[in-house]
Amino acid sequence: MAWSTILLVAILHLHLTQTNAQDTTGYRLPEIYEPSRYVVDLNFPDTVFTGASTAFTGQVTIAFRVTSSTTEIKLHTRSTIAQLSQILLSSGLSAPTISDRTYNTTTEILTLTVGTALSIATDYSLEITYSGDLASESVMRGAYISSYSDENNRTVYMVSTQFEPTHARHAFPCFDEPNFKATFAISITYPSTLNVLGNTASETESTVDTTYRKTTFKDTAKMSTYLVAFAVSGFTCTEGETIDTGVPHRVCSRSEEAPNRAWAVEIGTPIMRVLEDLTGIKYGSQMTKMDEIAIPDFSSGAMENWGLVTYRETGLLYSDEDSSNNYKKSIALVIAHEFTHMWFGNLVTCKWWDYIFLNEGFARYYQYFAAALTKQLSDWELDKHFNVEQVQTALLADSSIGAQALTSTSVTPNDISNKFGTITYNKGASVFRMIETNIMGATNFIYGIQNYLTLYSNQGAIPANLWSSLATYTPSVSLPSGVSFSAAINNWVENSGHPVVKVSKDGNNVVLTQTRFLLSGSDSTSRYYVPVCYTTSSDITRFANTTVQTWLAPDQTTTLANVLNGSSWIILNNRQSGFYRVNYDSTLWTAIKAALHANHLRIDVLNRAQLVSDAYNFARSKANNGTVTDVGYSDVFSLLSYLQYETDYYPWYAAIIGNNHLLQRIGYDSTEGTRFTSWMLELLQAVYATVPFDTIDTSNQVYTMKQIMILTRVCKYGEQTCIDKSKELFANYRNNGVKVPKNLRGLVYCNALRHSTDIQNDYNFLWQKYQDTKLMHEILTIFSGLGCTEDTTLLKGFLRQSITASSGIRYQDFTSVWSYVYSSSKIGASTAMEFITENYADLTSYYSGVGSLISNIAGYYTSEDQLEKLEALINSTVVSASHKSTAQSALNSARSNIEWASTLKAEVTAYFSVPETSTGDAAISTSSLVIVLVTLLLHKILY
Ligand SMILES: *[C@@H]1O[C@H](CO)[C@@H](O)[C@H](O)[C@H]1NC(C)=O
Ligand SMILES: *[C@@H]1O[C@H](CO)[C@@H](O)[C@H](O)[C@H]1NC(C)=O
Ligand SMILES: *[C@@H]1O[C@H](CO)[C@@H](O)[C@H](O)[C@H]1NC(C)=O
Ligand SMILES: *[C@@H]1O[C@H](CO)[C@@H](O)[C@H](O)[C@H]1NC(C)=O
Ligand SMILES: *[C@@H]1O[C@H](CO)[C@@H](O)[C@H](O)[C@H]1NC(C)=O
Ligand SMILES: [Zn+2]
Repeated sequence: MAWSTILLVAILHLHLTQTNAQDTTGYRLPEIYEPSRYVVDLNFPDTVFTGASTAFTGQVTIAFRVTSSTTEIKLHTRSTIAQLSQILLSSGLSAPTISDRTYNTTTEILTLTVGTALSIATDYSLEITYSGDLASESVMRGAYISSYSDENNRTVYMVSTQFEPTHARHAFPCFDEPNFKATFAISITYPSTLNVLGNTASETESTVDTTYRKTTFKDTAKMSTYLVAFAVSGFTCTEGETIDTGVPHRVCSRSEEAPNRAWAVEIGTPIMRVLEDLTGIKYGSQMTKMDEIAIPDFSSGAMENWGLVTYRETGLLYSDEDSSNNYKKSIALVIAHEFTHMWFGNLVTCKWWDYIFLNEGFARYYQYFAAALTKQLSDWELDKHFNVEQVQTALLADSSIGAQALTSTSVTPNDISNKFGTITYNKGASVFRMIETNIMGATNFIYGIQNYLTLYSNQGAIPANLWSSLATYTPSVSLPSGVSFSAAINNWVENSGHPVVKVSKDGNNVVLTQTRFLLSGSDSTSRYYVPVCYTTSSDITRFANTTVQTWLAPDQTTTLANVLNGSSWIILNNRQSGFYRVNYDSTLWTAIKAALHANHLRIDVLNRAQLVSDAYNFARSKANNGTVTDVGYSDVFSLLSYLQYETDYYPWYAAIIGNNHLLQRIGYDSTEGTRFTSWMLELLQAVYATVPFDTIDTSNQVYTMKQIMILTRVCKYGEQTCIDKSKELFANYRNNGVKVPKNLRGLVYCNALRHSTDIQNDYNFLWQKYQDTKLMHEILTIFSGLGCTEDTTLLKGFLRQSITASSGIRYQDFTSVWSYVYSSSKIGASTAMEFITENYADLTSYYSGVGSLISNIAGYYTSEDQLEKLEALINSTVVSASHKSTAQSALNSARSNIEWASTLKAEVTAYFSVPETSTGDAAISTSSLVIVLVTLLLHKILY
């Protein structure tokens, strides 16, 4: 599954506030059942497709055996007992009687008691006839209804599914755990004006009567229940190049979007073939078709149902004319992610959700590294993007004391949902990357992977299975002396966290020690086997070699003897290939900074990005009493001053992430925030000059990504030339109908509205543009622009639309709209909190995650007077007790953030007071080149 970040954050907050100590007994099925084949027959009446009813009926027949004698059959269902109209058990000619049935609505387990015990090695057949209700488009899980407006402006209803992790039971009673694999023979009866897609190709189609048709699909491969899917709709499909003879690849959506399927059609087949080459297993050996389908209402980003991958529209439909290159990239990556699951997840499945990183870590890993091997994407530098987008975000998520381990216990559906987060995906992928690049090398890694996939095909797997396959292809010289593969890896997987390696100079030697890195608090017990590779100034070709040179074992220090003989600096963790941070003593940091100023290109671009990211996080840790206490913000600023020469994407990416956090705390508009952004603007001038507004090159992916990122920041930090240009392009759109170049739209819409002198009309114009389009990429870009408005009334109007069905804003996009509002402007957070207080009843009846909204909004608070808005909410008589308590803890953490910000502000002031006293207004004026140079010279003197 590929989740959407914003939604997930909301869900996680919700769970944190709703579930404390929960009884976890009784949620798992006994392992004694062995289902082999499901025959599922579903019936969707035409009332579903007119919006008149949600009722459907079904019958499931499960062929199974038991591995030990039992008088109970336990399986999952979401239908109540009353909806289970008939339950029959048979075995050959006999029909064992069912003497009792009980149902637990919490665990969703149906228990059938039989008169005589079931015996082993006997074939049983359980037939259940039932009725159920489809879920609504604000639920988006199980079998559910989605709707959209068609070419003729008619509301059209369709049925789709989202079964992972625990929702197949909603469509039919089943043993709904990943390790109960079986084949599925599914048939669906539906109005004959529509069509149906399933995991497999249809075997027979028959006319039931004048209104209905019935499609029976071929048996699936042996697979988990959560991978079953179907869709009943009026969609059309575009057929691409076949994956193999007789294995078609199609992309389907509402017919109006047909022209926007081309990119997915083009890129899917080559990605699939790259994956076939890597895994050594043909897709067609398991499933004989691949349909990808865009569902208008979809909860996550996409879902890897075998043979029928479902997507949000933004994840599949791309308009060459109107969708940005960022969307083009995310579509390619989401497709690669889902297709990777055909092997990692579908063919070999995590035995239980504790190990979901075996599915998601690989999907996240290959969404970059398989995509990178696809010809059309070969110059997109996806391997480098992996570092800033995955490794650095994983390190951050893994830096709090409460971070989950990759393997952690999950029993209830809530626990299971909580496993689908940054640790599982980003850290899982990063640890695989470390194994591949530091320990095994690409070739051995692939041998190990192929061995794993072959051994556990159509079965469940646990991490030990993977380690044993990988170990087979790992030479012992690549491991710490006397330590097995799994022993070297286990701490990274079974414990949370990751280390910071401290590098200290001792004459010509350096000494390495480790501690778990935490942004706050401490953990003196966690230790890891750290694969170390390094580069010194005497041989910079070494950066390209990420093979482990030495290990830092959990309970030891490691000395690199004489390594500084003839070298002025040393940098550890070549290309940030290992999953850890590196800190240096002050002498070594000074040498690295000097090297960056002398010729930054001598240090690998990914290590430059790492230095920036690490330093920023060390300063954050120091300010929060975390692990690293010897690198403060003044050290970060003195490191960042080298950025004046930096024109590469990755170090800037890391810097901007760090800046975002700093500015979110001190506020963009505070004295210190303004001082910081004007300094940043000076540093940005060189890279800004490489990506001018007028040089559009959409065929160059890396250039375009850099252009969008840099221009967005330069405008945000207040560069007047950038703001003027944005306003000019917007005016030309509004007055003359000249569309803004697609990649610039996000920043142009935002800055034009933020700095508008005619806000009501500019806002209305953009709102009208929203109503005129059905392309989800354009819609979200417009929403992000509207969120930049600095007019309280308009922003509240926008939030009002988010809870008004006739606005057309989908439930799935609700959290995006809100985050655009509360995170984009200086009034956004306060305005959003006011809206909650003023419209509490309407809001809570529409949206269930209001608690998480409150916490998220308060995360953007920077001043005392904002706290009052939160107090007003707490004081309000209409607000529920649970939201009051969420608001109270949000208030406490906002208060400590603000206190913390005052320390930060002091550091900013102290650092910038030197150039300011020497050059008068230097830090404020941004356009004078002379002053810029003077300022930079002064910064150089600082370290
Ligand atoms: C249902 O299962 C839960 C979890 O095991 C248990 O706490 C609860 O008592 C059960 N309910 C009934 C009615 O048995
Ligand atoms: C589409 O239908 C809606 C609601 O029925 C109506 O408000 C709107 O004006 C219609 N739009 C067009 C383009 O016909
Ligand atoms: C990379 O480093 C490893 C470990 O030091 C070494 O064995 C190997 O020869 C190096 N590879 C290349 C191509 O230099
Ligand atoms: C860090 O610790 C010091 C001394 O114990 C304390 O005064 C300060 O408030 C702490 N800061 C944070 C952010 O916890
Ligand atoms: C909330 O209530 C407290 C206690 O009654 C009061 O002191 C405070 O001023 C109120 N705050 C707001 C913003 O209404
Ligand atoms: Zn996934």
